[in-house]
Amino acid sequence: MKLPTELMQKLGIHHPIVLGPMMGVGTPEMVAAVTNLGGLGSFAASALNGDGIRTIVASIREKTQGPFNINLFVQETLQPTEPELQKAFVLLNPIRAKLGLAPATPLAAYCEDFRAQLEVLIELKLPVVSFTFGLLEAESVERLHRAGSVVIGTATNLAEAHAWKDNGADIICALGSEAGGHRGTFIGSYDSSMIGTMALVPQIVDGVGLPVIAAGGIMDGRGIAAALALGAQAAQMGTAFLVTKEAGAHSSWKERIRGACDTSTRTTKTFTGRAARGIINEFMQRMQAHENDVPPYPIQNALTTDIRLAARNANLPDYLSLWAGQGAGMSKARQADIPIAILMQQLINETSQILA
Ligand SMILES: Cc1cc2nc3c(=O)[nH]c(=O)nc-3n(C[C@H](O)[C@H](O)[C@H](O)COP(=O)(O)O)c2cc1C
Repeated sequence: MKLPTELMQKLGIHHPIVLGPMMGVGTPEMVAAVTNLGGLGSFAASALNGDGIRTIVASIREKTQGPFNINLFVQETLQPTEPELQKAFVLLNPIRAKLGLAPATPLAAYCEDFRAQLEVLIELKLPVVSFTFGLLEAESVERLHRAGSVVIGTATNLAEAHAWKDNGADIICALGSEAGGHRGTFIGSYDSSMIGTMALVPQIVDGVGLPVIAAGGIMDGRGIAAALALGAQAAQMGTAFLVTKEAGAHSSWKERIRGACDTSTRTTKTFTGRAARGIINEFMQRMQAHENDVPPYPIQNALTTDIRLAARNANLPDYLSLWAGQGAGMSKARQADIPIAILMQQLINETSQILA
């Protein structure tokens, strides 16, 4: 399948398939596998400091000569107030006790310094960089361009896509509401931007005039072909790659994805302070009444990190953040622990058959 789209030429890829950046799941092996098979591998680097990013990029560069994408959250370094922390502790301490963790205490830091991460991206002269949760100012986009990087901005509505275009982005990733993981909304309220991929992609294609990557709910060749029919020039997939052999997700998370049905997911702010789509579990149900009581991202994210780590170690998926998109259940049509090479080949074949 060779489609001479503008975006594929810009990125230097042979197939319109993007491995979505996935924090906590992606590995250099996954990134290189997708890139070496003609797609674009992406790595989510938000949780890493500068040296961590340098190490990951070196490891990816050892495994592939092709293009790859490093992704960051555009975020401010927030400090919680004392009342905010106390309120959060009251909600989380019973869950901590259940997992054998000591009561919560304030943390030294709640996220990495975004500005320092950005400087490392510029220093590393990366082929592709992508951003979500916010907008990069034009001057920083220009510095990334001078470093040779193609810049992708994530948008959940038309205003965000226009803002990225105005600030110089090369490509828009249109993130439909079906998508697994966090909503990237930064203009307007999150709930007014729960726009499905089917409606969002063509409106951004028509309204903005930049190449668009469609993301959200795309699980197979039908989804990729549909994204192309809507005017997108590539499809970004997260959940479909989350269940591959190479993905770093806990086996119980992969099992829940393969066991999911159409109604198994919803969005919640209770794990991280920012709305994110995942498979409904006990943590989400217990915390449902407190959706609007938790501190904002990244504070709640930092406060629940050791809960999720303990749940992972104890094999308790009911206390993990089981991020997954609305298409999760479609993954059971493929073999369990499918290697990326086989998944990529199947996606390419399925798409080619439909396009033919
Ligand atoms: C576990 C998980 C983690 C994610 N982390 C990030 C991230 O760090 N940065 C980002 O831009 N998108 C992130 N996403 C979104 C994906 O890159 C992708 O856009 C999304 O999964 C597409 O929807 P789908 O899950 O329906 O395929 C994440 C998604 C998942 C499922």
